[in-house]
Amino acid sequence: MTITNLPPSLISTLSGEYYTDPGIFALEQERVFEAMWFCVARASELAGPGRFRTCQVGRESVLVCRSRDGSVRAFLNVCRHRGAKLCLEESGEVKRAFQCPYHAWTYGLDGRLVAAPNLTSMPDIDRSEYGLVNVHVREWLGYVWVCLADAPPSFEDEVMGAVVERLGDTESIENYGIEGLRVGRRVTYDVRANWKLIIENFMECYHCATIHPELTEVLPEFADGYAAQYYVGHGAEFGEEVKGFTVDGGEGLDRLPGVGEEQDRRYYAITVKPQVFVNLVPDHVIFHRMYPMAHDRTVVECDWLYLPHVVEGGQDVERSVELFHRVNRQDFDACERTQPGMTSRAYAKGGVLVPSEHHIGAFHTWLQDRLDVPPTQ
Ligand code: FES
Ligand code: FE
Repeated sequence: MTITNLPPSLISTLSGEYYTDPGIFALEQERVFEAMWFCVARASELAGPGRFRTCQVGRESVLVCRSRDGSVRAFLNVCRHRGAKLCLEESGEVKRAFQCPYHAWTYGLDGRLVAAPNLTSMPDIDRSEYGLVNVHVREWLGYVWVCLADAPPSFEDEVMGAVVERLGDTESIENYGIEGLRVGRRVTYDVRANWKLIIENFMECYHCATIHPELTEVLPEFADGYAAQYYVGHGAEFGEEVKGFTVDGGEGLDRLPGVGEEQDRRYYAITVKPQVFVNLVPDHVIFHRMYPMAHDRTVVECDWLYLPHVVEGGQDVERSVELFHRVNRQDFDACERTQPGMTSRAYAKGGVLVPSEHHIGAFHTWLQDRLDVPPTQ
């Protein structure tokens, strides 16, 4: 890994190698994804004891499951015997325990080693020492967050603090009752781009007029390219003729009961570094998680959350989902068009931050600080 050609100007982006160098990506895995709180799953995916989900967090595979006492547990998905990957599926359910597919060591839902073939004939093996390795876990907004650090940072400061920074308080997000909403639709996007291109794209609105015709119809102030969403507590207002946050601006679904007058007919976007984006509108919440897989590949999982009776009653959410699904595809296509340019000599010293993108410059400074490399500016 070489971190060279750092552009000296205040208006430059990170240089191309930040998006293409596997060594820099490895550093990000260690100092960002394995060090911070990382959102892995919707708690409702773990509806009953034995339901599980696996996902990549930094360099590790993590297993989260619902245990017998109803709590969510998280472990490194690695067998303590000889290191085989314990759980091979992305999600599923086990009856009582996880059994390693290699030599059949068996772990309870609390991670304890409960059985192993012929273990009684190996008295020097202390079973209590060879349980799965625990990972810190929290639940908030109906999502499961894990942290691989030995001493995790304060969840209140790091995760809730990002919401407060954007909305002014946590009450404003609690009004949406996200925990009690149901997943009406989930779409998983496999994006051939570095995770930072996705986060930078999400943080800016400069591209909205060019690539988001449907979104700018609903939110006319996005058409001027300024990231109005970054003023604390300020949501973007729906256009006058717009009835709801739908692909054609037609009527939405039932409004979330906690959403007050000041949050009605407004759209809020929140970035929780390093990998969560939340969009709030009066009748639903769109919740994105990024799973950075490689320097040039990021899986994005996006949930559209509605009131339980909307989903259970089979109401038509199609026009509602379609708006942001199109926005996502437009955004991710743009990121994929950008990724090859990161290796070009034309981008060796990076690109340009226009005046409305100073917060992207702040993101770069934040990242360089975490990676402990010299700042660009
Ligand atoms: Fe898992 Fe041997 S590696 S039981
Ligand atoms: Fe966009």
